[in-house]
Amino acid sequence: MYELLGIISAALFMVVMLPLLLRHINRIFFKGKNRVITKLRMWFRKLHKPAGCCLAVIALIHGYLALGSIRIHTGTLAWIVCIAAVILGVLFSIKKKAVYLVWHRRVALLAVIFIALHLLVPGALYYIGF
Ligand code: HEM
Repeated sequence: MYELLGIISAALFMVVMLPLLLRHINRIFFKGKNRVITKLRMWFRKLHKPAGCCLAVIALIHGYLALGSIRIHTGTLAWIVCIAAVILGVLFSIKKKAVYLVWHRRVALLAVIFIALHLLVPGALYYIGF
């Protein structure tokens, strides 16, 4: 079961990051003028908030089932960074202050690094004594 929840979490993270990715693809390859990519981006933007919230919950269940408890692990670190991104996203949605969006984006990029570590070397913390 935890494997399936892990795959769902990874898919949700992709969905959450797609608006940013599509914006850069459009800008780099089509000078921001590809309408299909713009439409697709707008569609994924609608999914962004619900997908981000689902990710926070499903990834937590995935981690709890995989570890049998809540303890420090590359997955726990990835989850904490995702929660920070969610909190900043919610704060920006409520307060509409640009600083929250700036940090929301920065923390999201940090989440990419932590999720990559979790997927590539899940036991990384054991090697350094945790
Ligand atoms: C782990 C979860 C999340 C990640 C990794 C994430 C990541 C991002 C990224 C990378 C952007 C920039 C998109 C762009 O510039 O095109 C963004 C924008 C935004 N995010 Fe999130 N996000 C998450 C969850 C949430 C949640 C839960 C909310 C609110 C409830 C939220 C609200 C927003 C808003 C309002 C924007 C800017 C406007 C928009 O593009 O719609 N995010 N997010």
